[in-house]
Amino acid sequence: MNAIRWRYAMDAALYGPRGFFVSGSGPADHFRTSVHASPVFTAAVFRLVSRLDAALGFPTPFDVVDVGAGRGELLRALAALAHGSATPGAAATPLAHRLRLTAVEPAPRPADLPPDIAWTTEPPAGITGLLTATEWLDNVPLDVAVPTGTGWRYHLVDPSTGEETPGPPLTPEDLTWLTTWHPTPTPTPTPAAPPTTAPVIKRFASTEGPEPDANLLITGRGERGEREGRGGRVEVGRSRDEAWGLAVGRLRRGVALAVDYGHLRERRPVDGTLTGYRNGRQVPPVPDGSCDITAHVAMDSVAAAGAQVAGCAYTLVSQREALLALGADGGRPALSLAGSDPAGYVRALAAASAVAELTDPAGLGGHHWLLQPVGVAVDALMAR
Ligand SMILES: C[S@@+](CC[C@H](N)C(=O)[O-])C[C@H]1O[C@@H](n2cnc3c(N)ncnc32)[C@H](O)[C@@H]1O
Repeated sequence: MNAIRWRYAMDAALYGPRGFFVSGSGPADHFRTSVHASPVFTAAVFRLVSRLDAALGFPTPFDVVDVGAGRGELLRALAALAHGSATPGAAATPLAHRLRLTAVEPAPRPADLPPDIAWTTEPPAGITGLLTATEWLDNVPLDVAVPTGTGWRYHLVDPSTGEETPGPPLTPEDLTWLTTWHPTPTPTPTPAAPPTTAPVIKRFASTEGPEPDANLLITGRGERGEREGRGGRVEVGRSRDEAWGLAVGRLRRGVALAVDYGHLRERRPVDGTLTGYRNGRQVPPVPDGSCDITAHVAMDSVAAAGAQVAGCAYTLVSQREALLALGADGGRPALSLAGSDPAGYVRALAAASAVAELTDPAGLGGHHWLLQPVGVAVDALMAR
């Protein structure tokens, strides 16, 4: 067995020469994020952009930098909203000619991407505007630690089979992260469950929503884990803290926004959340490049790392709260509209059901929005 640390296995599997995210068709073919779910999400982000633009005094250019841009879906949609081409009859907004859009992504630039969207592998320095990252941090490679009779050790994984075995002791940096951010509860046994078949949306976890579904964690690891004394494994989020801190450091003035599923110190999932996705299905997390490998984000530790770089307090809310604050309206349209404007009624009905999906606390609504301001106040941006 050629076993290596999960962090390196995940990096090669997702971003190596034949990595899942750089050589395949793109994330949208394998799972659905909020960006893909509905234009309601993009419209809310655009509302945040507009409010931030005003708070920053209408700068030229106003940057939107999307880290982990997929195939540029969010930026394409924001450009359409700014130029008024998203809705029939809509006019261009004042932002249209000041907006500078940059996708940050290790995958190659899509051939059909509009030329006014820049494509790069590193966030540019000196951003004035919004740096956004939707479901990026859960794909930042991380290590898995496991308690043994001789202390915490890295879990090593064979990239071709996913088979795991305890390896060397944790470095002092990772041990410090673990004791600071992941005080471990006594591991409790998780019930065995059959593999799930069709979760289209990536995993969710919320402090408000239900407990993360431990059954899903069994998919791909149950049998092997039990053989090797599975129990108490912990995902070490230090690499995500560093990645987020670097991204926030690129902001001169504005807001860095991370939208992701994750957990807080009081309720870390027992035994971790590492899992795989392929073609809309949850699969065993075998880091061989054939599937997405993802783990929930320790949002509070990421936030603390960002706040240290930004020198400002952060705001952490659920997606539900964020979208409602940004004007997403889940109310059903009045039935009378069906008579006077049938097409408008159908559009409003579709929007209402999209809002319901995006704000469902047990689903996408349970995702976290981390807003990290630099030189601007967040309160006014998110006021209802
Ligand atoms: C789950 S997808 C999310 C795509 C899109 N943001 C969405 O919400 O649909 C994660 C994306 O992050 C990208 N990514 C991973 N590491 C990155 C890095 N260091 N810099 C930029 N993008 C990265 C991956 O290639 C992948 O396209």
